[in-house]
Amino acid sequence: MKKGRTAGIVSTGRALPVGKLTNHDLEIIVDTSDEWIKTRTGIEERRIITGDETSSALSARASRIALERAGLKPAEIDVIIVTTVTPDQILPSTACLLQDKLGAVNASAFDLVAGCTGFLYGLDVGVRYIHSGAARHVLLVGVDTLSTIVDWQDRNTCVLFGDGAGAVVLSEAEEGRGVLASKMYSDGSKANLLYVPAGGSTRPATVQSVKDRAHYIKMNGPEVFKFAVTELVDSLLEVLTLCGKTAEDLDILVPHQANLRIINFACKRLKMKPEQVLVNIRRYGNMSSASIPVALDEAVEEGRIKAGQLIGMVSFGAGLTWGAAVTRW
Ligand code: ACO
Repeated sequence: MKKGRTAGIVSTGRALPVGKLTNHDLEIIVDTSDEWIKTRTGIEERRIITGDETSSALSARASRIALERAGLKPAEIDVIIVTTVTPDQILPSTACLLQDKLGAVNASAFDLVAGCTGFLYGLDVGVRYIHSGAARHVLLVGVDTLSTIVDWQDRNTCVLFGDGAGAVVLSEAEEGRGVLASKMYSDGSKANLLYVPAGGSTRPATVQSVKDRAHYIKMNGPEVFKFAVTELVDSLLEVLTLCGKTAEDLDILVPHQANLRIINFACKRLKMKPEQVLVNIRRYGNMSSASIPVALDEAVEEGRIKAGQLIGMVSFGAGLTWGAAVTRW
């Protein structure tokens, strides 16, 4: 990144649905077992929206916390970026609904779609707003409510996901602090490994598309797994190289929480110690865009992430997309 103005995460917040769904609850819904889910994924429970909880409602709860911790009023936010694949509605953007809920009257607002890599894509874009001088404060929210697009008859996918939201405020950082490097990648030729067939212009919603269960996530799990292990490692190493660091230099790594085995494989290849790596998948499953910001917020609250530490973040998701970022907290 160019010298001069730098940008970083100045505060965090999170919001999780009240409703919990345990592996034992899932044993009643599909042909699965607590043992299978725990050993194959590391997940024990996940949060699921109920009642009037929506992507924008969770985003608003997380954002209010992040704004208060940053000491900012909603009107001081210049840009709102919401990264999600589960917007409240197709139109308008969830970011606009969030802007209204917060009263962030001076902000431009848009959604960004990059699957589970959404939060890192949003970070990559958000810091550039500040570098360029186009914005002073950016509110970035990673939110997903995948429970609304998961096929609750498909044991291959429904055990993996959970709902949640994480928000961060991005502002100018002191010299040497903030995001030191980030790089995003995509490979659309692998789109069919993880997708929702209907509900877009390819296959608009019809009675038949609903009967075909075509509005739900389809995933080739083993192929995504293989891809993830390789790309998590390679992209993180590339971004570390960009800022002259190694995996050993990281105080904390926050990987996307999709599968504990993916995290363990990647960290073994990176020769990282368990205490360097944040893992909360047991309690939440894969929250897609919310996974990294929720983990960051918990770690800040617990005192595991402290000012001055070197933090790595790495993710992958539908697209396929992947990317990494390194920040001095
Ligand atoms: N309970 C019991 N058995 C199951 C379940 C389940 N919930 N799900 C699958 N199985 C069975 C399969 O049917 C299969 O049985 P078979 O051998 O009789 O055919 C067996 O378990 C093994 O299935 P695999 O798919 O080979 O299992 P694998 O070890 O690969 O684990 C998993 C599957 C957990 C999906 C893994 O491949 C994975 O995590 N992949 C990555 C997925 C991912 O990260 N996706 C998120 C991307 S991010 C985004 O943008 C949303």
